[in-house]
Amino acid sequence: MERDTSMDYYTREEARELFRRANSFTDDELLSMDETEFRARVRERSHHTLEIQVYSAAYRNRTLQPSQADTAKRLLRIWRERGLSEDLPEYRYAGFLIGAAEKLSRGEPVDLTPYRPTPVTKEMEDHFFTIVKERRSVREFTDEDVPDEILEKVLEAGLWAAHGCNVQSIRYVIVREKNEPGLFKGSDVPGGPIHLVICQDMRCYRANDFTPVRNRLLDAGAAGQNIVLAAHAAGLEGVWLTFPGQEFTDRLRARFNLPDYIRLVTYVDVGYGDQTPHPPLRWDVKDTILARL
Ligand SMILES: Cc1cc2nc3c(=O)[nH]c(=O)nc-3n(C[C@H](O)[C@H](O)[C@H](O)COP(=O)(O)O)c2cc1C
Repeated sequence: MERDTSMDYYTREEARELFRRANSFTDDELLSMDETEFRARVRERSHHTLEIQVYSAAYRNRTLQPSQADTAKRLLRIWRERGLSEDLPEYRYAGFLIGAAEKLSRGEPVDLTPYRPTPVTKEMEDHFFTIVKERRSVREFTDEDVPDEILEKVLEAGLWAAHGCNVQSIRYVIVREKNEPGLFKGSDVPGGPIHLVICQDMRCYRANDFTPVRNRLLDAGAAGQNIVLAAHAAGLEGVWLTFPGQEFTDRLRARFNLPDYIRLVTYVDVGYGDQTPHPPLRWDVKDTILARL
């Protein structure tokens, strides 16, 4: 059988060693590593050494060891020494987790009720499934301009996708065809007025090199799916497209001077749709279930 290298898993010992290494940086190393990697490490360490433990203890009314927050506290100390802004999301979230861990270590409850999501009404549920089922790959567009705010809302949906170990690698390149006609030539369809390129800053993955490599591609796929759904929800239409080859991505990389650690993964064309295709019908769900216990 063909070997899928993206499936590679580490042996238990290898994964343990890589995980241990993630905790063994000296202060000097953390102070001098590039900012993108450092911030990804703060997200990853907060996730693996605190987030999971805090929610589990809060749910079960268990106390946490006061030392549980030590890794996150140390990283936030280095954050301040590096002079990074305390308004940035990973600093604020790690700060919340540290506060919660301190309460749990004193045996106090953590009130999570302020974070309860808006209750999903029947109407919201119906709207969600309408968006999911009526989103189509639309390949014909009007000339109407799409405001930047709508594009940013759609791209923000990509950032809110699930993401392995919360390392948050997703980056974007936005190209309006009219600003540089032909840059995307070679696509298999004429293409939309706007090309949204989903990229990843691979430096983020230094923070979780102990998880399977396939998660990296899945992170971009999760963002892509949110993007096509959000585009439809925001009144746009679009189509997820395939880079036709290396020459195409090399052209984009050169045009925007993208360094090697930026991976161009895939792209989605969007605009105001000018066609309503017949839905490519899907299988009945019961025909897709391989096993059920
Ligand atoms: C990873 C991926 C790559 C795709 N690449 C292309 C492409 O290169 N050209 C194209 O016309 N459509 C492309 N599509 C769109 C699919 O053809 C489309 O999603 C599928 O036919 C189902 O139609 P629907 O999206 O309208 O439900 C791609 C979709 C995905 C998820």
